[in-house]
Amino acid sequence: MKAMVYSKYGPPDVLQLKEVEKPTPKEDEVLIRVHAASVNAYDWHLLTADIFLVRLMGGGLLKPKNTIPGADIAGRVEAVGRNAKQFRPGDEVFGDIAGWGNGGFAEYVSVPESAFALKPANLSFEEAAAVPMAAVTALQGLRDQGQIQPGQKVLVNGASGGVGTFAVQIAKSFGAEVTAVCSTRNLDMARSLGADHVIDYTKEDFTQNGQQYDLILAVNGYHPLSAYRRALTPKGIYVMAGGSMAQIFQAMLLGPMMSKTGGKKMGGVSANPNQKDLALIKELLEAGKVVPVIDKRYPLSEVPEALRYLGEGHARGKVVITVAQNN
Ligand SMILES: NC(=O)c1ccc[n+]([C@@H]2O[C@H](COP(=O)([O-])OP(=O)(O)OC[C@H]3O[C@@H](n4cnc5c(N)ncnc54)[C@H](OP(=O)(O)O)[C@@H]3O)[C@@H](O)[C@H]2O)c1
Repeated sequence: MKAMVYSKYGPPDVLQLKEVEKPTPKEDEVLIRVHAASVNAYDWHLLTADIFLVRLMGGGLLKPKNTIPGADIAGRVEAVGRNAKQFRPGDEVFGDIAGWGNGGFAEYVSVPESAFALKPANLSFEEAAAVPMAAVTALQGLRDQGQIQPGQKVLVNGASGGVGTFAVQIAKSFGAEVTAVCSTRNLDMARSLGADHVIDYTKEDFTQNGQQYDLILAVNGYHPLSAYRRALTPKGIYVMAGGSMAQIFQAMLLGPMMSKTGGKKMGGVSANPNQKDLALIKELLEAGKVVPVIDKRYPLSEVPEALRYLGEGHARGKVVITVAQNN
């Protein structure tokens, strides 16, 4: 089978399209014919090891341990292992396989069936591949860390990217009043996703305008933690999903300390892919309450271009890889 393979950390060019052995499913695994995948900042970090922690936390100290990247996939079950009971050959599934060594930028992958849910019937493979990691991050950030409640004022900073476009829609599905922060060119899209209010970050700093929110999900950009804190209601919750390195380290190191005094909570979300949440997101997708936004599509051989585009930091929604053509 064909796969995008890398043997050393580096820029997207280290990835090469190669012929490799097609996997066979182990007992609890399903063999998937990958129809589409999507790229995430996570893939970029694994490829480049730009965060040293990648090497320490199982990525491989000197060189990558898993040589085919790609976490988000959608495809068709081709074969099932002896103990895999949930799916049958022919089933269309989607999922995030980051917990099983990745391997999604390939024609086939074999991982435990617990990575997958049935693909939403109303979505193409490409649309389904755009969903898992970004939508689960948004869901868990809003619901688990953010304890979102109907009627709350929720702000999503970085509302126009992969995680943000899902966050706006999922927050709306919980009955929140949503403010989306993005740049001028994305304001209309944020409104079309259901945002009640939009703030153009190139013209206005939401941490300085006196407004306060019950929940802030910080997906992209940078503001000091003290500024986010100021923009929270007295019992408000700040959840950092991503953004600049400074953003991430401040939330990890200072967040717990800042949460000790006063009623405000400052924390972060680290997505935990699981079937239950994927199934919940599938329901939202099938009900039309959440719609994936796809910016660009690339063929498998152009994963490096897709990653470079994502790395520029201005993708509008998700960037998708088309692996098999019969979508
Ligand atoms: N915690 C977790 O488990 C988890 C899981 C997944 C992702 N993440 C992290 O979440 C972050 C976002 O991921 P993503 O997939 O959404 O990224 P993405 O799709 O690459 O985000 C791109 C979007 O960010 C917007 N943006 C750029 N600078 C901004 C700014 N200063 N203020 C507001 N918006 C800005 C861009 O809009 P403009 O073009 O208009 O600037 C663009 O639409 C990354 O840091 C990623 O590592 C974390």
